[in-house]
Amino acid sequence: MSRADRLATEITMSASTLATPEPQVSGWRALAARMGRSGWLAVLAILAAVFAVQAPAIARVAARSRLHAPDLALITGAPPAVQVHLTAVLAALGVGAWLLIGRKGRLAHRVLGWSWAVFMIVAAGSSLLIHTSGGFSILHGFSAWTLVAVPLGVYAARRHEVGRHRRYMTGVFLGGLVVAGALAFLPGRLMWAMFFG
Ligand code: HEM
Repeated sequence: MSRADRLATEITMSASTLATPEPQVSGWRALAARMGRSGWLAVLAILAAVFAVQAPAIARVAARSRLHAPDLALITGAPPAVQVHLTAVLAALGVGAWLLIGRKGRLAHRVLGWSWAVFMIVAAGSSLLIHTSGGFSILHGFSAWTLVAVPLGVYAARRHEVGRHRRYMTGVFLGGLVVAGALAFLPGRLMWAMFFG
């Protein structure tokens, strides 16, 4: 075989390797694998640290609280920024879970992916207008991170950098949405009052 023939064979083989689509794995098992052990440990450590600090207060409030039907008047009477924030996070939770579990790269993933990015930007942006403790709090750090990480995740997707895109978006969903969402149910906050107050 001549040198030119060998080169042509190599190019054909590389092209067929590149054209082979990534195996499409879906489901919670795939999500767990993607997160990795350190990712899960980081999420659990943050939650455990916050709840450990708050444990005495939670126990005191829990002793005189009971779960009841959601008090929707608290939402209708809340400031517009809180209403916009809640609407955006609820939409982002539903769409985000579907995106993480479902098949990737298809038209539905792209359309819903853009909607999710918009919901997250609105959720983080509106939270900058909420100052329940009078000023900015640690939670606003999640907002700042979301406002940076979501555009970076979209940029990575546009450049077909699948691994980087996956890391940013999974991180924002679990680190931002799930952790910030869990913290929203701490005693004294609106979600706690809505269900337990
Ligand atoms: C399931 C998800 C979430 C729920 C249910 C939720 C709910 C809420 C609610 C009801 C408030 C009004 C203040 C209060 O709690 O009394 C609030 C404030 C806030 N949220 Fe969320 N949120 C969620 C996710 C997020 C996310 C993803 C971020 C950031 C990217 C975020 C950042 C904030 C910030 C910074 C505040 C203001 C905190 C303060 O005043 O110190 N939240 N959230």
